[in-house]
Amino acid sequence: MLQMAGRCILLTLFYIECLIGFEMISEIEAFLLCETPQAWIEQALHHPEELLIDHANCEKKAAGTALTLMFRYAEKEDLQQKMSRLAREELRHFEQVTAIMKKRGIRYRQLSASEYAKRLHQHARVEEPGRLIDTLIIGAFIEARSCERFYRLIPHLDDELGKFYQSLLKSEARHFQDYLKLAQQYSKEPVEERVAFFAEQERLAVLTADEKFRFHSGVAE
Ligand SMILES: [Fe+2]
Ligand SMILES: [Fe+2]
Repeated sequence: MLQMAGRCILLTLFYIECLIGFEMISEIEAFLLCETPQAWIEQALHHPEELLIDHANCEKKAAGTALTLMFRYAEKEDLQQKMSRLAREELRHFEQVTAIMKKRGIRYRQLSASEYAKRLHQHARVEEPGRLIDTLIIGAFIEARSCERFYRLIPHLDDELGKFYQSLLKSEARHFQDYLKLAQQYSKEPVEERVAFFAEQERLAVLTADEKFRFHSGVAE
């Protein structure tokens, strides 16, 4: 009886988790100007090794970006706290992806980066405070796109990977919100215009063909 009640609670918690994930995904889909192309989803399913290796890279890079911001803006208290938590979570995700890779016999190796992040960062302003605001907005787009890709991949994945990606939705969606809130908080002007500009750049980055398949690439040629 007690065991059954325990199982019911676990199942309810799982459904609540899914609902939270689905609610956040509609906010993210409204934020992004386009869906990930179906051709990218198909390439991801044909490149399971590259998908996981590059996913691990992305988690590491996300932690690195958060730490860079912490060193660059030591006087900004909210940024310090939010980026510290974010960096810890991204490194935890890195450990989780690499543990799944190890289980599957996939060796971690160096992979070249896709053009996606460069395509966004090339438009960031160089003078402060524009530099900070743009970096935060770009961070919001990268997190939002990661979240959307996890969500789109879930129905096609095996149980273990599907559950793992489901578990990532909530934290990646919160990272997206944190970046966006910080951008507004540290900007003296409304950020909507800048967000709209990067939304268009992000759409172009996703719809431009890339040489190789990567977690954030466009469709590989
Ligand atoms: Fe992550
Ligand atoms: Fe994240």
